[in-house]
Amino acid sequence: MAQKIYFLSLLAILAALQLATAVDYTVTNRAAATPGGVKFNNNIGVTYTKQTLASATSFIWNTFQQNTQSDRKNVASVNVFIDDMDGVAYTSNNEIHVSARYIQGYSGDVKTEITGVLYHEMTHVWQWNGNRQAPGGLIEGIADYVRLKAGYAPSHWVRPGQGNRWDQGYDVTARFLDYCNGLRGGFVAQLNKKMRNGYNNSFFVELLGKTVDQLWAEYKAKYKA
Ligand SMILES: *[C@@H]1O[C@H](CO)[C@@H](O)[C@H](O)[C@H]1NC(C)=O
Repeated sequence: MAQKIYFLSLLAILAALQLATAVDYTVTNRAAATPGGVKFNNNIGVTYTKQTLASATSFIWNTFQQNTQSDRKNVASVNVFIDDMDGVAYTSNNEIHVSARYIQGYSGDVKTEITGVLYHEMTHVWQWNGNRQAPGGLIEGIADYVRLKAGYAPSHWVRPGQGNRWDQGYDVTARFLDYCNGLRGGFVAQLNKKMRNGYNNSFFVELLGKTVDQLWAEYKAKYKA
């Protein structure tokens, strides 16, 4: 009897833990009456999108080395909307908005492209932003770094070594962060951890022993000619 009660309480605790860590995903196609909304339903779909959101979350927690709940942002649900809007996608308040017009106009493999877009946007849900002090280019660069490591870098991205500034953002900064991570495994995870409460360029010195400008100069030199 005591054993049975023990077993049942164990189940209850495990269920409670599961509830505490589970993230709820919703996908709403608000552009279903437009060509892009129809193309979303035919080529990507709600079921696949939800699966991708869950896979992206696991991948991001892993990339950021956030193994416990206390390492992560406290987010209970992420809601995706396919909207009749310009641009590609944006994220705010744990809502990801994807452009149906972009889906319509994309001429290549749209499912793979949107998967990459979702990895980028989902990174914005989970990454720390240095209490809003971090450079926007670094925030976007980390999101594209995750997309790169997940294997969804599109062919139109800059090649390694290209770009004018380390904090130019997106693919330029993603390639640079990949170089930095090659100097020290887990660099991007450590950088993100440091960005939980604030931001300072000295984080690069603390992790890699060189200023970010020195690192950028060495990165450019490596790929010159
Ligand atoms: C950034 O870090 C450097 C070196 O630790 C420090 O001298 C500087 O005051 C910091 N800047 C800010 C804005 O906190």
